[in-house]
Amino acid sequence: MPYYIERGEIPPKRHTQFRNPAGDLHFEELLSRKGFSGEHTNMYHLRMPTRLAAVGRFMERQLQEAKGIPHRHRHLRTGKVNSSGGPIGSRQVLFYNDDVIISKAHPDETLNSFYRNGQADELLYVQSGKGTLATNLGNIAFVPGDYVVIPRGVIWQMSFDEPTRFLIMETRGSIDVPDRYVSDRGQLLEHAPFCERDLKLPDFQAPIDEQGEYRLMVRLQGGIQEYIYAQHPFDLVGWAGQCYPWAFSIHDFEPITGRIHQPPPVHQTFQAAGLVICSFVPRLFDYHPQSIPAPYYHSNVDSDEIIFYSRGEFMSRKGIEDESITYHPMGLPHGPQPGMYEGSIGKQETDELAVMIDTFAPLKVAAAAMGIDDEHYPMSWSE
Ligand SMILES: [Fe+2]
Repeated sequence: MPYYIERGEIPPKRHTQFRNPAGDLHFEELLSRKGFSGEHTNMYHLRMPTRLAAVGRFMERQLQEAKGIPHRHRHLRTGKVNSSGGPIGSRQVLFYNDDVIISKAHPDETLNSFYRNGQADELLYVQSGKGTLATNLGNIAFVPGDYVVIPRGVIWQMSFDEPTRFLIMETRGSIDVPDRYVSDRGQLLEHAPFCERDLKLPDFQAPIDEQGEYRLMVRLQGGIQEYIYAQHPFDLVGWAGQCYPWAFSIHDFEPITGRIHQPPPVHQTFQAAGLVICSFVPRLFDYHPQSIPAPYYHSNVDSDEIIFYSRGEFMSRKGIEDESITYHPMGLPHGPQPGMYEGSIGKQETDELAVMIDTFAPLKVAAAAMGIDDEHYPMSWSE
């Protein structure tokens, strides 16, 4: 979570009586991480946040693994994935393990009911389109290149101004900026590739004082539980704390370059338990007179590597298109394709834009990936 902020009306002291001008008491709710021992937000409701009208259906959602497929490098043309519906229903899971579920979604419908991920944080990378994430803590307008971070527990809806495409990561652990970018007291450090001023924070909205029936879908590991609440979930008069949705544009990531090829950790943008997320952005290449800008071949034997190619020319890959994903599993070496390693010598800059997800446990390939799999990719290194 970024840092402590306050929005709307809050009492001067936490856990004390807080009333409206008519004398009615507001109801405080604590949203907290690591039990009661991590970052937290105090929220002040018009009504009890626990007032249910009904417990609805449980809709089972089991992840489907592609069975009996060979272990090999993969290239998925995710622009062709069969996806439509709302921002939840349109998700097509492509890879997963116990730490992360990686999906692509091309929603074409507004999310009018309310949604809360009960057991995972969500990171939505906006490949294209525009819209608004509306939450109980405030709104965030998103545009292409934004990473939108939605911690578990936040209640949200979504609307679109343009057809929108997301790459989505749902993580078991919290999604944070890397520890090494942050001081002991929680400030982003001088060497970090972005700072607090680059973050987009929620735009607080006045509380909605309505009662009736409001459908909330809570995402759980095995499915989605529907609840009907007796008041509008966006009834906060104010809140204060460090748990809230936020966004960061990949275009505000300031690349770190060097005389020789810089390894992926210089591109790291987020961390979560069991994975890192990196941003490859337009930048000048290495300036040692004998440098080779393309990456060296590598066997990063403790991580599976997913790269989502957002746009631009990719110096080390042939046959890649916008929205391609390459998957290089930990059991094999990988690197530039024929001609690309030596061909990169003398190149001055790159305009590539890509998101990399390195997981520390092997990923499973989901069944939905099979329809968009480029079966020739493993042989693309053959000269
Ligand atoms: Fe790699």
